[in-house]
Amino acid sequence: MATTTSPKPHSIGVVICSSRQPRVCPQIASFVSSTITSLPSYTSNLTPPTLTTIDLLEWNLPMFNEPLVPAQIHTAADYVQPHTQAWSLEIQKYNAFIFVLPQYNWGYPAVLKNAIDYLFNEWKGKPAMIVSYGGHGGGKAAAQLRQVLDGVGMKNLETMVALSFPSRDVTRMAATGKDIGLEGETTMWDGEKGNVEKAWRELEGALVPPVVEG
Ligand SMILES: Cc1cc2nc3c(=O)[nH]c(=O)nc-3n(C[C@H](O)[C@H](O)[C@H](O)COP(=O)(O)O)c2cc1C
Repeated sequence: MATTTSPKPHSIGVVICSSRQPRVCPQIASFVSSTITSLPSYTSNLTPPTLTTIDLLEWNLPMFNEPLVPAQIHTAADYVQPHTQAWSLEIQKYNAFIFVLPQYNWGYPAVLKNAIDYLFNEWKGKPAMIVSYGGHGGGKAAAQLRQVLDGVGMKNLETMVALSFPSRDVTRMAATGKDIGLEGETTMWDGEKGNVEKAWRELEGALVPPVVEG
């Protein structure tokens, strides 16, 4: 009897890398996700990758507290802390990641470094798209993150997306978690959508072919 085969869609984790309250990061992560899911190449794909939010605020990981070096661990059960085991199982689910991060004092948020350092093999070999934001696009934070992602063996893309707040007023609104208008028909970052698409295409190209299930 013939069996039908269907490719399993790739699973992409969209990491919200700010844990302040209030914060603007979820609005920006949502802008990035909806820009991607509106692309003709995405909507016409029969098995488009799924985009799932991973919110570091919700994960609320304590400061790194594992006794072993994560690079030497290959099974979630070998971590000591239950929160690390859960974090490992979560990150194992995804084929690639989009990191959406603010720049803090010329660097990237400590909550993100903490979340990365907990694991190693769960990140290794997977493509990473970096979307930074800030008064000048957060490029310094993005460059630092890129180096750390290299360190855990992720596949960095050539294109990085850097979203700049166009005025001090918008920066102030962002910092206080106000609506910065990214959901309307036209937004202040419509001109950045092309770069999001470019990075996304690179990410898709870096994914290993989908698994075919019988
Ligand atoms: C601790 C801290 C440091 C910041 N440092 C920078 C910076 O170096 N460059 C920049 O453009 N904006 C900086 N900002 C402004 C942020 O871009 C702005 O507050 C943004 O809303 C932060 O993202 P979030 O609300 O998602 O945390 C900083 C904000 C905070 C809270």
